[in-house]
Amino acid sequence: MNPGDEAGAARQTTQDDAARRLDERVASLTLEEKASLTSGADFWSTKEVARVGIPSIFLTDGPHGVRKQLAGGDHLGLADSVPATCFPPAVALGSTWDPELVERVGAALGEEAAAEGVAVLLGPGINIKRSPLCGRNFEYLSEDPLVSGVLGAALVRGLQSRGVGASLKHFAVNNQETDRLRVSADVDERPLREIYLRAFQRVVTEEQPWTVMCSYNRINGVYASEDRWLLTDVLRGEWGFTGVVVSDWGAVANRVPALEAGLDLEMPASGGRTDQAIVAAARDGSLAESVLDASVARLIALADRADAGADAEASYDVDAHHALAREVAGRGIVLLRNDGGILPLEGGAAAEGVAAEGVAVEGAGAIAVIGEFARTPRYQGAGSSQINPTRLDAALDEIRALAGHREVRFAPGYTVGGEGDAGDDGPARLLAEAVTTAAEAEVVVLFLGLPGEEESEGFDREHLELPAVQTDLLDAILQVNRRVVVVLSNGGVVRLSGWADRVAAIVEGWLLGQAGGGAIADVLFGVVNPSGRLAESIPLRLEDSTAFGAFPGEFGHVRYGEGLLVGYRGYDTKGAEVSFPFGHGLSYTRFGYGDATMEIGADGDLRVSVPVENTGAVAGREVVQVYVSVPESAVSRPVHELAGFRSVELAPGERQVVDIAVRLADIAYFHPLAGRWVVEGGEYLVEVGASSRDIRTTARIALAGDDPVLPLDADSTIGEWLAHPIGSVVLGQAMASVAGEGGEAGMFGDPAVARMMASMPLGRVAAFPGSPITDEAIAQLVAAAN
Ligand code: BGC
Repeated sequence: MNPGDEAGAARQTTQDDAARRLDERVASLTLEEKASLTSGADFWSTKEVARVGIPSIFLTDGPHGVRKQLAGGDHLGLADSVPATCFPPAVALGSTWDPELVERVGAALGEEAAAEGVAVLLGPGINIKRSPLCGRNFEYLSEDPLVSGVLGAALVRGLQSRGVGASLKHFAVNNQETDRLRVSADVDERPLREIYLRAFQRVVTEEQPWTVMCSYNRINGVYASEDRWLLTDVLRGEWGFTGVVVSDWGAVANRVPALEAGLDLEMPASGGRTDQAIVAAARDGSLAESVLDASVARLIALADRADAGADAEASYDVDAHHALAREVAGRGIVLLRNDGGILPLEGGAAAEGVAAEGVAVEGAGAIAVIGEFARTPRYQGAGSSQINPTRLDAALDEIRALAGHREVRFAPGYTVGGEGDAGDDGPARLLAEAVTTAAEAEVVVLFLGLPGEEESEGFDREHLELPAVQTDLLDAILQVNRRVVVVLSNGGVVRLSGWADRVAAIVEGWLLGQAGGGAIADVLFGVVNPSGRLAESIPLRLEDSTAFGAFPGEFGHVRYGEGLLVGYRGYDTKGAEVSFPFGHGLSYTRFGYGDATMEIGADGDLRVSVPVENTGAVAGREVVQVYVSVPESAVSRPVHELAGFRSVELAPGERQVVDIAVRLADIAYFHPLAGRWVVEGGEYLVEVGASSRDIRTTARIALAGDDPVLPLDADSTIGEWLAHPIGSVVLGQAMASVAGEGGEAGMFGDPAVARMMASMPLGRVAAFPGSPITDEAIAQLVAAAN
């Protein structure tokens, strides 16, 4: 035995011992004790079995902060929670396209969770942004499964590195809030696998989250909580998940079938009702006790893990986490437009940061900051993810701090959520005052955004419009000052068409967490050179969005009729115009791309290399994106799909060859008949660029692929027979042998006829009058071909 084998054998023995000990502990429990472990003790904790030393553990939201409620509990963010750092919500994390940064956020979340005695933090949420109307898009990362998967994995990695478990949610196909507890998401297998499950697959296989949270909704008619195919066959069987499946809060409709499907832990408490149902089913034999035992073993393992991770001394540095929240928020901001290089603004601190390239420095007159959102930040969404922040920075104060000698004048312009009293004369007075302020300033920084009540867990948005009072304000300001920089505060995209090309700059500020105000000021003054990129397309109009007409469904069903054409996959395939494409984001510097080259690595994956140069005068970050397409694909595919990306920091003048790994798994498609992922053989076009519509260099490569050879039968078409390596030979021989006999046999000789016949199942030919191919002959061909 060589040393490697010895180590492997020792590891196996240790694992066997641990499994045996776990089995013994399960066996030492009564049926009632086992059932008791499968549901919560209250809103946030599990039950203990003190007699055998199984501790209770504490789970709480998630995902961008620790929402540990002080007393009692609710899952809608209503009751107060202990102060915690409100990091940028997923919408901003997604825009960073930077797994290293997101991993640091995960680690910080882990530290705060540990300090609060939280064993499992309920996040990240990695559902795909299918429609811009989803009320919870602010809690999700992207419309693309690669971005969602890579960043979701990074967050889990960081969190779990601190001995705190993640709960990957909401598994699966939870892409809307409308009727979320019942609606059936009806989706075909290819989009299901290639779009909606793909990010989950990546995070589970790479990071083994301690728990996966099953969603409320049904998938093709079956509740996720009762979907054995989803929770057991795919999650555990195919992906090798070893952790605990926990229900979303209140997602269990039928406890015993859910347990049988693979749902281990029902949350929150059910008052013992469902535990009794499990006991009764085990007693009357309708539930195999081994199913319960398997869940209980996983639950004990989770409790042990939590216990091992717990640290009574754990604490965290509130200031350091606030600083991290600011850094990350700055990286999540997307500069959508910067006409004439109006940004960055000249200010006191800007001199120490980056300065705009080629910007004519104006007389540095007054800055008019307009909009209540500058003073009253909108920094997170409503619902279960709502954090009680340790502090909160307003952009107005931070702009003043960085403006140095420049005068900053403020006018609220409009009210939000009762903030900023408009008085009796209301909107008209606020508008007039704002216009006067804007007219006298050298530059206007105008904060616009969505009112908090429009974006929340629990319901979807109805439109993409900014409030009319805000767009009226914008119009009025543009009458008196053309130098307008719009800063947006919104969790989901808003319609920009109609005004985007009339303003000088647009800073997409999303919801940025508690330190977002400082981050906005950093970007405005160039202390931070923006590097955020859109992780979701901004359509021209709602009507253009790819799920339009098929969202949010009705009568209990939502049909995912757009198939694979979600987000940019749809816009780019159809050549539809958008306001800003997926992957877009400007910088205060420029990046030049050299020619991309490619090689196949030892592991079979592709390695794309491309020289990228910072050709501007200030340091900056580029997010290099790799899109792949299969021009001659045998299956329907979007015109291209993101297959790799990397965020790189470059000093002015610096040139770096950026290597990006493209896993074959990320360019494979799911073959529903073969029941597996397939890398097509043939030529691949690889596009490298700065957005899905800004491709700078391309390369081609041929791959051998692993196309499946499906068995033939009488129902297989003549076309399928002719495409089959053995089928084509045996059929050809058979046809040649009967060719002289006339009848239908001559048909293959004529290419036009052969093409027409290609879609005909071979068995049907036998039924034709005078057919030389008999049923017996077909049976022989089938036997010979397979
Ligand atoms: C949400 C979950 C959340 C849970 C607990 C549910 O309503 O869908 O995301 O983790 O409540 O608050």
